[in-house]
Amino acid sequence: AHVDWDLDVAEKGGYPDFMMKEIHEQPRVIRDTLAGRLVNGALSIDELDLSAEELNLIDRVCVIACGTSYHAGLIAKNLIEGWARIPCEVEVASEFRYRNPIITPSTLVVAVSQSGETADTLAAIRDARVKGAKVFGITNVVGSPVARESDGVIYTKANKEIAVASTKSFLGQVASLTLLAMLLAQAKGKLKTNQVRLLFHELADTAEQVERILADTAAIDEAARACKDASSALFVGRGMGAAIACEGALKLKEISYLHAEAYPAGEMKHGPIALIDEGFPVIAVATKSPVYDKLVSNLQEAKARGAMIVAVATEGDEDIRAHADHVVYIPKVRDAFSAVTASVPLQLFARAIAVERGCDVDQPRNLAKSVTVE
Ligand code: G6P
Repeated sequence: AHVDWDLDVAEKGGYPDFMMKEIHEQPRVIRDTLAGRLVNGALSIDELDLSAEELNLIDRVCVIACGTSYHAGLIAKNLIEGWARIPCEVEVASEFRYRNPIITPSTLVVAVSQSGETADTLAAIRDARVKGAKVFGITNVVGSPVARESDGVIYTKANKEIAVASTKSFLGQVASLTLLAMLLAQAKGKLKTNQVRLLFHELADTAEQVERILADTAAIDEAARACKDASSALFVGRGMGAAIACEGALKLKEISYLHAEAYPAGEMKHGPIALIDEGFPVIAVATKSPVYDKLVSNLQEAKARGAMIVAVATEGDEDIRAHADHVVYIPKVRDAFSAVTASVPLQLFARAIAVERGCDVDQPRNLAKSVTVE
């Protein structure tokens, strides 16, 4: 038994579970995703295999995925529409495949799948190709069905992910989709080469910023202890923050069995605010963004009804303390890159609660790492 224990610890690189090990690999994933992507000052994604002209003809993007990969798609929508100014829809693959979606040859379909073998995502790819779309895959598994059946593929550089709840693959997907959004924006003439270069370097800096988040988790652990006995929690944000909140809620419910729901903060008043009473946890993605003030007024509404607010906020933002019971500070990044940084404390928060509740962090009940049946 002693030998087994040693082996176990060695496999986990000294971390208590694979999820923790994988969370800590994320700075490396960001660096590997960006390595070799800026060649002589220009963005290089050869795998896409589309000429500048072909890229410019794309007038719509459709991201299809499931689970965490779907949430990476929600982040991508913000970036693609924001930078490239072309419409981007994001849809869960199990819906997409059965509703006869509108696809034309100028639609770029992007299939995102860690395992590359999710049955619904594969079926959606096949359907899109029959309808004449170019399909671009983003997957973590070399030679997987998604890779084989797409016209081009970017491999996320996460390496094998063992914990059922996806963490480092998500960051790899977000970083890869960010590059794709930049490429489209450049092809559409919406971002100049020097702007792309600047963005690229800022994105590269997030590796170090994530390291800083990982170096001090005291505030996250304290917030987790405060929330661990709740029966339900609400994750809110606006803009990018709304998408980040979705992944935060998914992580928490997957591994701690604590019911969690994500809502765009401005929509709280149309339903979920009815849930809020004394001590109800509301986890807010409250980083500095163009909609920061709007988010803060939503938090005031929740606070007035007794919510216990945990805010993930930007370093230096002292004002947020007036609106939150627990503040987790993270380094300042531009809003476009906030998913890379703000998702990390939410992963750690979910894990800390799961540990507090005595759950099997790496192998939650009823869930599988990949879902190869419908
Ligand atoms: C399962 C996993 C999730 C994953 C989802 C999609 O539900 O437990 O972590 O996000 O499948 O998987 P994929 O491999 O297609 O990204």
